[in-house]
Amino acid sequence: MNRIKSQIDINSDTFKQNKSEYLKILNKYKTILNEVSKGGPESSRERHKKRGKLLARERIELLIDKNTPFIELSALASFNQYDNSFPSAGIVTGIGVIHGKETIIIANDATVKGGTYIRQTIKKHIRAQEIAMENHLPCVYMVDSGGVFLPEQANVFPDKFDFGRFFYNQARLSAKKIPQISIVMGSCTAGGAYVPAMSDETIIVKNQGTIFIGGPPLVKAATGEEVSAEELGGADVHTSISGVADHLAMNDAHAIEICRNIFETIPDTHYEKTEINSIEPPYYDPEELYGILPIDLKKPVDSKEIIARIVDGSRFQEFKARYAPTITTGFAKIMGYNVGIIANNGVLFSETALKGAHFVELCTSRNIPILFLQNITGFIVGKQYERNGIARDGAKFVHAVANANVPKFTVVFGGSFGAGNYAMAGRAYDPRFLFMYPNSKISVMGGEQAANVLITITQEKMKAEGKDVNLDEIEKIRKEILDKYEEEGSAYYSTSRLWDDGIIDPIDTRKIIGLAIAISKNNIDEETKYGVFRM
Ligand code: COA
Repeated sequence: MNRIKSQIDINSDTFKQNKSEYLKILNKYKTILNEVSKGGPESSRERHKKRGKLLARERIELLIDKNTPFIELSALASFNQYDNSFPSAGIVTGIGVIHGKETIIIANDATVKGGTYIRQTIKKHIRAQEIAMENHLPCVYMVDSGGVFLPEQANVFPDKFDFGRFFYNQARLSAKKIPQISIVMGSCTAGGAYVPAMSDETIIVKNQGTIFIGGPPLVKAATGEEVSAEELGGADVHTSISGVADHLAMNDAHAIEICRNIFETIPDTHYEKTEINSIEPPYYDPEELYGILPIDLKKPVDSKEIIARIVDGSRFQEFKARYAPTITTGFAKIMGYNVGIIANNGVLFSETALKGAHFVELCTSRNIPILFLQNITGFIVGKQYERNGIARDGAKFVHAVANANVPKFTVVFGGSFGAGNYAMAGRAYDPRFLFMYPNSKISVMGGEQAANVLITITQEKMKAEGKDVNLDEIEKIRKEILDKYEEEGSAYYSTSRLWDDGIIDPIDTRKIIGLAIAISKNNIDEETKYGVFRM
């Protein structure tokens, strides 16, 4: 496979200036991430530790194999919401390796409002289970939670993808023979009691873990019975009387050791492994991404320069290089795994959409996963393009992507605006993972375009009502829309609401997508079937 020949001069002022700007953006992200990763307020963390408990991220560190990374997902969930009183939405989720097996880990952070669940906590928990389901990964639940954050009940209890979905998912995961282990390391109340109760095996920490459908205050109110938490649902009760838990642990570290021992008995289900020795690192240094990635999203970036810093040996077998150049398509390897790559290089035209759809068909017929690298301004607009059927051709691309039954992965490295987001495997198109770069943006259209659309509509309305066009009002609309889109379009706004699986440092793309492809090999997709392509 030929190596991409980079056109970037890494000694140029443009490159150096871009890098320096990008590192500022990255530093801001890392500072926020660092702060959020501490968990709840210092007083809560101290109290937690005084009780002899480890913090959520310390527990995970101890659970996974030494010197292996933990790929944390959506660490900035609920960022800038709820007065930032729910760092990481009070739950840590991600993928870690336990006895060589990639595992989904879901750990409540009891230092954040007692580990209770708000909307984003629920979304994170369910999303992690979805990833387990799609990639056939075992799950470990490290339970330490007061259940629903009660003031939020209307947002977290009744709907299809609310609290109840956890247990539905556990039953469905179990039916697929996906192992699930619970470690009860603190409170596990009300509906939350079903997490350990529906797991394959459950460990509970003595004098620390409790499981009950109704806690002591509720029991007193309901029946008048007075009972301590330990008597009602402590570790002794559940391992010797009720049988709700299976293993008694003396403390957090002991509980984690028992969990690791259980993992030794879980069979490995990997269908395909790559030979580590045969993996070629990128020829071009991934760190150079900082000098290339867009700072101003209006400036075009050649996506092949980005591909060159992600794929093995910077090698790329390009498909239709001379045709429809605003999209780049081709095959490469990431960490030894074959992957088809579709990357934007400008506006989507009819021929771009046809090239994209053709390439998706190639990937599905060869059963090769697809990586989408998004930097989309959207589909082309205008009389000529509508007459030529841009909607019909765009629909072919969207149709192909929606039905492509191969693992899809999406990384937004620039803008993700308009219907191009759909064709390029946005969240609604079920990519196995979707990550954002810190400087990326996502919205229905760019702020300026949205402001212009609304201003045109307002001007038309004023004219129709026989009023003079009020320039002050027009400027007010422009500013309001620009400010709104600036805030709501940011990667932080997106990741706070779980529209993605997290913001990542661009340099980690190769490692993360490599892992994502590796775990996707655990699950064999059904054969792709397309419907009607409108010709
Ligand atoms: N809803 C809303 N807030 C809750 C909560 C709940 N279910 N459970 C705890 N909190 C809040 C507390 O008000 C406190 O908030 P603050 O930090 O702003 O003061 C914080 O979480 C920590 O709670 P606290 O009781 O001080 O901590 P703890 O470690 O001693 O106990 C629990 C934690 C979860 C064991 C205990 O708070 C509890 O039993 N909560 C009620 C659980 C329950 O009945 N849930 C049913 C819902 S399905």
